[in-house]
Amino acid sequence: MDSTSLYLRQQARHGAPHGTVVVAGQQLAGRGRRGRQWHSPAAENLYFSILLRPSLELAQVPQLSLVSAAALWQALAAECPGLLIKWPNDLYCRGRKIAGILAEMQPDKTRAAFVVVGIGLNVNAVPADFPAELQGQVTSLAYECGRNFELSGLLERILQEFAVFVERFCRQGLAGSIQTLINRNFFLAGKVISMCWGEQKITCRARAIDVSGQLLAITPDGREMAFSAGEAWLEKRA
Ligand code: BTN
Repeated sequence: MDSTSLYLRQQARHGAPHGTVVVAGQQLAGRGRRGRQWHSPAAENLYFSILLRPSLELAQVPQLSLVSAAALWQALAAECPGLLIKWPNDLYCRGRKIAGILAEMQPDKTRAAFVVVGIGLNVNAVPADFPAELQGQVTSLAYECGRNFELSGLLERILQEFAVFVERFCRQGLAGSIQTLINRNFFLAGKVISMCWGEQKITCRARAIDVSGQLLAITPDGREMAFSAGEAWLEKRA
């Protein structure tokens, strides 16, 4: 199909229930964050979207990206020891991106009518499968673990963890085990990063994720800043 997330959003508008999952063997128009393309070749990787109709305040919805990243980490880390979470919604292994998450919300007054969480996980792809401009920046489970993975078993494991983490998040927020898991496996911790803040670019040192899912970072003059959204770029010298 073109994109599991686009398809699922249409289904959601026609009443598809909480927990509906759409999986594609290939996407012809896979979408990443900020209008980027998600490279989605046939049958090698996982491309799927999950429909949530959670009873969350609007302000909590962006945290679902981190919750999804934590669930993915829990499902995969035993097999892939170097796995880390990059705020706000990626998984990295040995400095390369292995999974991306795109959570898109349909607002309804003070709540989210629904949220579509789209996940792309590089599973059996080899470096040559990626376009030249991504070489050296991305990796896959097979490349990191030295063996291929059966996609449906892997998806089942991820969905089980996803259900556990979303249920826990709706009950108690990030506080407790989810926040702890993220901070223990936080790719940016202690690293020098650049953040876009409005028109400004700020260079700072990432510290941790707080209980609201904000990125806490220390500026060169020692001030602590909290970022609720944005993209963090790793500075080369970090
Ligand atoms: C990112 O930019 O890192 C997020 C990538 C999300 C890609 C997934 S693949 C399944 C779902 N369908 C899409 O079109 N995008 C998401």
